[in-house]
Amino acid sequence: MIEFKLICTPEIFSGKNSFEKLGEIAKKLNGKCAFVVIDQFLAKKTDIKEKTIKILENIRIKPVIYDRISSEPTTDTGNECAEIARKNRCDIVIGIGGGSTLDTAKAVAGLLKNPGKIEDYQGIDKLKYPSTPKIMVPTTAGTGSEVTFTAVFIRAYEKKKAGINSKYLYPEAAILDPMLTLSLPKGPTAATGMDAFCHAIESYLSRRANFLTKPISMAAMELIWKNLPIVFEKPDDIEARDNMLCASFLAGVGLANAGVTAVHSLSYPLGGLFGISHGIGNAVLLPYILESTLPHISKEIEEIAYRITGRKIDAKNFIDKLREFQKSLGIPQRLSEINVPQNSIKQLVEAAMQVKVPLDNHPVSITEDDIIKIYKSAF
Ligand SMILES: [Fe+2]
Repeated sequence: MIEFKLICTPEIFSGKNSFEKLGEIAKKLNGKCAFVVIDQFLAKKTDIKEKTIKILENIRIKPVIYDRISSEPTTDTGNECAEIARKNRCDIVIGIGGGSTLDTAKAVAGLLKNPGKIEDYQGIDKLKYPSTPKIMVPTTAGTGSEVTFTAVFIRAYEKKKAGINSKYLYPEAAILDPMLTLSLPKGPTAATGMDAFCHAIESYLSRRANFLTKPISMAAMELIWKNLPIVFEKPDDIEARDNMLCASFLAGVGLANAGVTAVHSLSYPLGGLFGISHGIGNAVLLPYILESTLPHISKEIEEIAYRITGRKIDAKNFIDKLREFQKSLGIPQRLSEINVPQNSIKQLVEAAMQVKVPLDNHPVSITEDDIIKIYKSAF
């Protein structure tokens, strides 16, 4: 018997210039005031902010813009946004940017209908009431936040990353417009692309993967393997950017339904303690974690290798190929290269052990000793 459950953002609009549909989508949500979180870099370097204001004013929705999100958001930033949105009685939320921007927008939508602060809802299923309707517009091809139920924040006072995980955070609609990703510089293009690759490979290998999520995760890996090197070399290649956005979305569907694994558990503390970007932390750790799990996942790794390279490659050689692939994208190979101090292993292990759900999804059980070994090997 085949049993499965698939959750996905109900309305997805994709393709070149699909951002122009924002007005039509927002109108259907029947709001009067939209809280719009826009990535700081985009707001400064492109005309997206002006375009958004114009689209919303044309349909008589008042825009309240917050454009100060630049890197991994803290709970303080998210709470500040929620206060502004509450004061203005916003009844729609729109996020335009990378994962940090979209996560902030999703959390604000939750806090508009639930009293208190982000810290009150970090954990699993803590939001009591459905959130305000929200539209997500990713401008990096990486996090898949437009299709997931999570919003991750750093609690600055304890340097810890933690997510609000709730069914009420699934966006009502998402727009995947490759034109909005053209301005993304090479470094973040590679890092966010590898985050998406991690979502895809981890969800493929997850204990919760099923007959429906596996082909979705595999399709994402195939698209990323082919298109990430193209967008890295030619940032203006619209077709490759479009393929990357679709891949990131598919990888997000894999993540939302099958979960991620130990790579995300071990990379969370790198962001919380040392400010390492999420994509880089995952990418650096990925080959070491695959190696440590290899005897148990050789068959799956060889399936992936065959599908994405078109050649039969044994699992160990594929991990070498993955290292070459990441090197060609300028991704560091070791934790020592990204200034993680070697004497922090104990702290890292303690923090990683607390990111339990992805550890439970890992294809084999993973102990504290395994985690120590993985971090050590990654230095
Ligand atoms: Fe991720």
